[in-house]
Amino acid sequence: MTRLKADHRHSVRVTLNGKLVQAEAEPRTLLSDFLRHQIGATGTHVGCEHGVCGACTIVVDGTLTRSCLTLAAQVDGCEIRTVEGLAPSADRLGVLQQAFRRNHALQCGFCTAGILMSLDHYLSRNRSPTEAEIRDLLSGHLCRCTGYTPIIQAALEAAAQLASSKKETSDA
Ligand code: FES
Ligand code: FES
Repeated sequence: MTRLKADHRHSVRVTLNGKLVQAEAEPRTLLSDFLRHQIGATGTHVGCEHGVCGACTIVVDGTLTRSCLTLAAQVDGCEIRTVEGLAPSADRLGVLQQAFRRNHALQCGFCTAGILMSLDHYLSRNRSPTEAEIRDLLSGHLCRCTGYTPIIQAALEAAAQLASSKKETSDA
């Protein structure tokens, strides 16, 4: 394992939502802070900073990750997906994001980036989730505003839409 000097800044290079980015980080710099302050990717939010609220959830090399529990130095060379990478283009939201908007699944939006990342990751693997499975997934996220019901509705609606578009593609 590489030993990092506490006072030494390191160059960290990652592929963020398909683009190579590089910035300096101290050995103690959290990945959430690195993304927000060094890279300027402020879509990822920080709530509790100890792995409980889920606001900072992102995907690192295909694995859901609490960016507040990860050091920037640990992700050098990794592929990272954040909420900024969910929309297919600057003027079009993704299926899940549209479902959130339709179902009023966010109010202050503080929890939303993390929830979207968890749901996007989950729905890419399970296109026909049950309500119980969605509820189970959301147990890793705290939302103070919505009461969760609209989030569950949005997730189920997005899953149905994704499943039907996949079926249309495979039928074509
Ligand atoms: S800020 Fe990371 S889990 Fe709360
Ligand atoms: S929408 Fe406000 S915390 Fe979830």
